Amino acid sequence: MAIRSHDSDTMNAMRIVVLPGVLRPPSDCHLLIEVMRERRLAAGAAVLDVFTGSGALAVASGLAGARTVTAVDISRRAVLNSRLNAALNRVRVRAKRGDLFGPVADDRFDLILANPPYIPSESDELPTRGAARAWDAGTDGRALLDRLCAEAAPRLAPGGSLLIVQSSLVGEEATLKLLAAAGLTAGVVARRHGQLGPIVQARADMLERRGILEPGQRSEELLVIGGSRQR
Ligand SMILES: C[S@@+](CC[C@H](N)C(=O)[O-])C[C@H]1O[C@@H](n2cnc3c(N)ncnc32)[C@H](O)[C@@H]1O
Repeated sequence: MAIRSHDSDTMNAMRIVVLPGVLRPPSDCHLLIEVMRERRLAAGAAVLDVFTGSGALAVASGLAGARTVTAVDISRRAVLNSRLNAALNRVRVRAKRGDLFGPVADDRFDLILANPPYIPSESDELPTRGAARAWDAGTDGRALLDRLCAEAAPRLAPGGSLLIVQSSLVGEEATLKLLAAAGLTAGVVARRHGQLGPIVQARADMLERRGILEPGQRSEELLVIGGSRQR
């Protein structure tokens, strides 16, 4: 798969291959890449792509001039996949396997990019293997988002920033409040309205019963939420 930038100025095409069991970069990943490029956040920065999956965000930040790129995922295949895509695109990515910030507990980053699992699921028990680990996020969809918001600030260098992509269905205010409570200046930096993705669509009845979707609602907003640490 080749992802082509809308902004030919900043980006060349990326070559991204996706191994079985790893999530093909969805539209939210593309939106996050666009924001990162438009704001020129990666140039010269130490970047962390947490929840890296195929490594598309890590590769995009390397191509956008990051000084260093680190990628973390809990899935062995994802770590392997991100290494493969880094090599295909000739960018240097330090890929580590582990839970959230566990493998980078002693490091600080200028930019953290995160596309966490955020789709509300049947139960609060998170999958420990299989494809659903890339999207299932507990009954309110916030199991990983809440941890990310609570744990990101100490991983940011002074003046550093965090960009998270999520759906409006799982709470814009909740993310903003948690980031502010962690001492970051938080705000929505991009919104894109669209139809529900296929996994959410397949769960629409359950989500209506829980009040996460309004009756008949079949659209959502993708949000990029930013948090920045003071210098
Ligand atoms: C929505 S996918 C994002 C993939 C990629 N960043 C993208 O934008 O296409 C979420 C990824 O998070 C990983 N993941 C799930 N739980 C995790 C955890 N506790 N710590 C680190 N990675 C996790 C999954 O294996 C999956 O690759």
